[in-house]
Amino acid sequence: MSSNISLKGRDFLKISDFSADELEYLIDLAAELKAKKKAGEYDPCLKGKNIALIFEKTSTRTRCSFEVAAYDLGMGVTYLDPSGSQIGKKESIADTARVLSRMYDGIEYRGYGQSIVEELAKYSDVPVWNGLTNESHPTQIIADMLTVKEHFGKLAGLNFVYMGDARYNMGNSLMVACAKLGMNFTACTNKAYFPDKKLVETCEHIAKLTGGSVKLTESVEEGIKGANIIYTDVWVSMGEPDEVWKERIDALMPYQVNKSVMDKADENAIFMHCLPSFHDLNTGIGKNIFEKFGISEMEVTDEVFESEKSLVFEEAENRMHTIKAVIYATLMEQNNG
Ligand code: CP
Ligand code: NVA
Repeated sequence: MSSNISLKGRDFLKISDFSADELEYLIDLAAELKAKKKAGEYDPCLKGKNIALIFEKTSTRTRCSFEVAAYDLGMGVTYLDPSGSQIGKKESIADTARVLSRMYDGIEYRGYGQSIVEELAKYSDVPVWNGLTNESHPTQIIADMLTVKEHFGKLAGLNFVYMGDARYNMGNSLMVACAKLGMNFTACTNKAYFPDKKLVETCEHIAKLTGGSVKLTESVEEGIKGANIIYTDVWVSMGEPDEVWKERIDALMPYQVNKSVMDKADENAIFMHCLPSFHDLNTGIGKNIFEKFGISEMEVTDEVFESEKSLVFEEAENRMHTIKAVIYATLMEQNNG
């Protein structure tokens, strides 16, 4: 891909570290890599390089995306599961970073506080990629924006509505991306679940410059009007205690994405979710919640999840293409011009 942008050697820790042009570059690079893969073109251009994947929380999409992307690029991969390394227990993050940098060309980290991945990056000599922290999920965001761009042909000007727990990794990261990319972001939820107040102020400032906007509302009618994209995520995230389920259900059930919500949005609106999702009783947690609280669907109804408006599996596929773009962009020498 011909571009003046080079991300070689950069970490990928949070969306706010990147300019709008850099985000657009990654989205477009992912589209190009996706088209190549669909055409059966294979270019193991990173052969001989190796990456380490550290997961202190579980994963399906992110882990598989990093592995498949790395294999497609010709690379070797080591997966360190939540209990399979010395990290945090017998060895500090700083020491881990310095050890792994001697062996690997890039390190992915999924875990708890954002400060941990930032520290890993500080002590690492090779790019560090954030595979999800409590505060941020940047690789998911690039996949989401690729999915939106593929569907609508553009990003700027679209009305993006986030419903449910907007104060965690997904709500915060999506708000930053929307502000940077000139989109209109609305958090439509109980006010206790609005995104981080300081980050909202920062995003309002960014949005003023990009032509986007940031809005917070507890009114579903007001929030959903004219929505092009309706996004939600689980109400209780990985690492949070089971005790919070009751308060989440009480506070967030009015913001469940159901047919009535979709009917109030723009007639061409789409539904998105980073997954995994509790939309039926086919999961252990879903069954458990049903037994305790009598609800069979949580942040999204099965009807919406399975509807034609739902792009959740396109989004999941795009995790791989976008993670490949992040690996490629941060490890390959760019041909600028
Ligand atoms: N969306 C996402 O990050 O999924 P996993 O937890 O399966 O990686
Ligand atoms: N908010 C969710 C996102 C999962 C991809 C979590 O942190 O568990």
